[in-house]
Amino acid sequence: MGLDLFGGRRLKMGIWGLGRGSAFINSARALGIDIVAGCDFDDHVRNKFHEICPEAVLTADEDEFFKMDFEAVLVSTYCPNHAADTMKALRMGKHVLSEVTAFFTPAQGVALVEEVEKRGLVYNLAENYPFTKINMYLARLYKQGIFGELAYAEFDYVHGGVNPCASYLDGTPVVPGNQLHHWRGWLNYHYYCTHSLGPIMIISGLRPEKVTAFPEDVFCKGTVHGKGRKVDGIVPNLCAFAPSLIQMSNGSVVRNLMGGSVSDSHQKRFFGTKAAYDGKYLHIGGAERGPRLDIEPQWDEMGEAAEKAGHGGGDFWELYYFARQIITGEKAPWDIYAASDVTLAGIQALRSALNDGEPMEIPDFRRKEVRDKYRNDDWMAKHIDPKKIFPDDQDTSITNDFASCCKELSPAVVLVRSALDGIKVYDAVKKENKIIIIEKVKELRTKLAEIQNTYKRARKIADAYPLSQGGEALLEKLELGEETKIMDSAALLKELDDFLIHA
Ligand SMILES: NC(=O)c1ccc[n+]([C@@H]2O[C@H](COP(=O)([O-])OP(=O)(O)OC[C@H]3O[C@@H](n4cnc5c(N)ncnc54)[C@H](O)[C@@H]3O)[C@@H](O)[C@H]2O)c1
Repeated sequence: MGLDLFGGRRLKMGIWGLGRGSAFINSARALGIDIVAGCDFDDHVRNKFHEICPEAVLTADEDEFFKMDFEAVLVSTYCPNHAADTMKALRMGKHVLSEVTAFFTPAQGVALVEEVEKRGLVYNLAENYPFTKINMYLARLYKQGIFGELAYAEFDYVHGGVNPCASYLDGTPVVPGNQLHHWRGWLNYHYYCTHSLGPIMIISGLRPEKVTAFPEDVFCKGTVHGKGRKVDGIVPNLCAFAPSLIQMSNGSVVRNLMGGSVSDSHQKRFFGTKAAYDGKYLHIGGAERGPRLDIEPQWDEMGEAAEKAGHGGGDFWELYYFARQIITGEKAPWDIYAASDVTLAGIQALRSALNDGEPMEIPDFRRKEVRDKYRNDDWMAKHIDPKKIFPDDQDTSITNDFASCCKELSPAVVLVRSALDGIKVYDAVKKENKIIIIEKVKELRTKLAEIQNTYKRARKIADAYPLSQGGEALLEKLELGEETKIMDSAALLKELDDFLIHA
């Protein structure tokens, strides 16, 4: 049944896009929100959703979906389609909680803002990172005046790990396998800036006003990308860093960092005029010799329910604020204007990067005269075509193996590099960590035949189309994974055994 937060009034919701959409089921149940309908045109995704939410009526057809009886919808469809899909939902008379980001071009943003104003329905952006335990605590401290005024902050949203561009959210390789994911395959990280900038906006209550960014010309090895801004004008997808500097409305500066890299980073550093948080310690006292406190914020009862619902509690809170606004009228943090601010900060950062760092304004779409300037602004960065990473006349019996080969190849290369680089740094590694390297070397030894098979699959595709984007990515990945060394079993096993004997 969930919590009874609204005096027995229950909200009926539909979910449009059941991949990420399925992450909200637990939170909805905990909040007493009824998920009665779902829509996804992918059979596999619909079937998985049905297993965990059998009470919802599911359909592949969006028009059939909107005929069902619910008053609010979570729009969790393809990232670049959110503006169009949200406007459709609003026209159908539904309140909308839209997944990030809100829109892809300033012109779409203007149209979306005006649709929301016209319909008078609730619109919220589902930006969840401000609602983790620590970020909510920092917001509370800021409200109490403990930080004084924001002077400088830096938040990261950097992913290491396997290339997400050839798989769905749950790790399943994309279908057809000779393509990249619908939007993760081409999206530049500047467009996805809400998880890092969003918390700073909510903690401080400030809006971003101006942004500058330098272009990133170095990409992760073994990912599909164009030749780069200087050669073909194509910006990298999720395989590169996307840092920007943002001037906030009180004159403070924020470094906003997103990226795809070789390791995760979710750093948070927040400096006020009276106190600071450095990601671990709270520094109070208003000057350098004040106490440095190791903090452990506590949730209240509702916070506990949020945490149990998963994903750090963020999905629960954004769903709660959304339902509360529909039912009681109390405003949620992410209205359409805040959603525009955070979304435009990414679009304008990328524009700045492509103009050698020229500062760009982050227009305030609350003002109609400002919107008028951007009404026809359809700017989008040039990007790769995720459907065309191999030539048109490709032999699909070879290239369709690309996505599932990538799924195997990525962890194989991680293991190879961990073992071979681990051997090189073994002497300097602390005693308690030496075992990690020994285990990696043993694992490489055990899995060698399997890894060699994966390398052969990758080599077959790469040799067939070495000059294609897909082929180049595989060649880079094989180089990163020391193909020559790995394929020479006798020499490699001798090297690994020599290490294990002396370790
Ligand atoms: N806030 C977060 O922590 C977080 C995490 C992951 C994803 N997201 C966001 O959620 C959104 C969805 O992410 P995802 O990973 O599930 O992406 P995805 O692109 O893999 O999934 C979108 C789903 O929507 C379906 N779909 C798209 N258009 C449709 C239509 N017109 N009719 C029916 N079905 C349609 C697709 O079949 C697909 O299953 C993205 O915009 C992403 O930015 C947010």
